[in-house]
Amino acid sequence: MEQAVAELSERTDVFSAELEVALGGSTYSIAWPSDRTLVAIMQEADLNPPFSCLVGKCGACVCTVVEGEAAMDHNEVLAEDDLAENYILGCQSRPVTRRISITFD
Ligand code: FES
Repeated sequence: MEQAVAELSERTDVFSAELEVALGGSTYSIAWPSDRTLVAIMQEADLNPPFSCLVGKCGACVCTVVEGEAAMDHNEVLAEDDLAENYILGCQSRPVTRRISITFD
């Protein structure tokens, strides 16, 4: 019973953001569930995002938030200056706002 309550509350915390993402000169619109990372949902959509380590250590997945907000689970690459410029690590980022626009270009 306790587990069922926990699962229910986890589900209600998850939302689906509307993502617009620019990559390789094209722009794509896809849903971004808040319990998934940007790189994960782009891979599932066959968009081939850049990545390497997937653990927030290499910076291969760096991209820029143009509109909206994302939060990173882990970051060993970006400095305060980078964060101020709206850079994020795609492999560690989840949406915070319901609409978000990101560019890899
Ligand atoms: S893939 Fe290495 S930091 Fe994201």
